[in-house]
Amino acid sequence: MKALEGIKILDMTHVQSGPTCTQILAWFGADVLKVERPGVGDATRGQLRDIPDVDSLYFTMLNHNKRSITLNTKSDKGKEIFVRLIEECDVMVENFAPGALDRMGFSWERIQEINPGMIYASVKGFGPGPYEDCKVYENVAQCAGGSASTTGEIGGIPMVTGAQIGDSGTGMHLVAGILAALYQRTHSGRGQRVECAMQDAVLNLCRVKLRDQQRLAHGPLKEYSHFGLDIPFGEATPRAGNDSGGGQPGRILKCKGWEHDPDAYTYFITQAAVWKNVCDVIGRPEWKEDPDFATPEARLPRLTQIFEAIEVWTMGKDKYEVMEICNPLNIPVGPILSFKELAEEESLRKTGTVVEVDHPERGKYLSVGNPIKLSDSPSDVERSPLLGEHTDEILRDVVGFSDDEIKAAKDEGAV
Ligand code: COA
Repeated sequence: MKALEGIKILDMTHVQSGPTCTQILAWFGADVLKVERPGVGDATRGQLRDIPDVDSLYFTMLNHNKRSITLNTKSDKGKEIFVRLIEECDVMVENFAPGALDRMGFSWERIQEINPGMIYASVKGFGPGPYEDCKVYENVAQCAGGSASTTGEIGGIPMVTGAQIGDSGTGMHLVAGILAALYQRTHSGRGQRVECAMQDAVLNLCRVKLRDQQRLAHGPLKEYSHFGLDIPFGEATPRAGNDSGGGQPGRILKCKGWEHDPDAYTYFITQAAVWKNVCDVIGRPEWKEDPDFATPEARLPRLTQIFEAIEVWTMGKDKYEVMEICNPLNIPVGPILSFKELAEEESLRKTGTVVEVDHPERGKYLSVGNPIKLSDSPSDVERSPLLGEHTDEILRDVVGFSDDEIKAAKDEGAV
């Protein structure tokens, strides 16, 4: 038994935000029926292709463990089949542009009429307000959600981050909403609407930056590098390079080999509780008692001098050695791991976080498995479906069509 066994998901998602959500639900054991336009499918099947005419890694890595049915939900026959699918499913997930589903004739009111138990979950770029009609992609959300204004070098331009906090981040928020709604349904017997705006999800992930915005009214943010460098604060939470987001000062420092290896760096945090260990390890034991360095408050204006001294030490060690030495001393450090290193990391293969998947058209490829591990419901990663691979099977087993009805639907171009 898998955690969500018996739950059917009507998956109307495309691109990244919605598919990440339904992929997690599939890994928890739900039967995810991905509805795609006949002959077209999810646009990502054809985006950033590395092998001609084969589903892209963009698609395969976001759509594991799903079944694919092609369906033209704008044709009469297609609508009839869609109604049957709504009747049979527990959850519908979509991330169309605002209003698309209403234009298809399936408003939330209509969906409730068809199936009062249906949980209807959507991702949109913005919640109700001036931008509610906008189409939104990852980097738009990162900018509109506050992340870009606080990411980047001090005095530099705003930056987006490689972590897909707008798309995958919102998808993960939506998973939480769907699971809560499924639980509430066990008491209420009713479905409900679950909405998650990408701007809101990014803002939630940047919560500590709103914290700092309010702290600014009470004086400078002393743990930011600006303070020690005498750079004045403006009206808003500033970009702060690689300063740590928590109260403990941290920086990215060079390690042995940095001259030729772009990833020979470590993150190093001067955690106050282990300051004496930091002094010993970098060979500056005199800083333990020196009043200019002994307390966190005294160190704040001297962080650049301190990190320069630590870097002299880290440059003599590779990033893994830094970790091996600092970890037992409770000094928090993080090697900068490249994707080459992550792809080759044995321990990630063992836990199923990095998996090798076989695909009939592309052969073997690497993917990220389920990062959420349930002891009673382990995730087995199965390849993504080909376009319409399960159309007949879903029409027969879920919709209840006979072979003749399936043929008729095909002849009409509805599937
Ligand atoms: N049968 C018939 N028509 C279908 C269909 C199907 N199975 N599946 C989709 N369509 C139609 C839609 O109804 C829509 O038609 P309409 O414009 O006439 O109403 C059309 O295909 C295109 O859908 P849309 O969502 O507008 O796609 P897009 O490529 O123009 O926009 C996004 C893509 C991602 C910008 C947009 O969907 C969006 O803003 N989504 C919400 C935010 C989001 O999730 N963004 C991140 C994506 S990773």
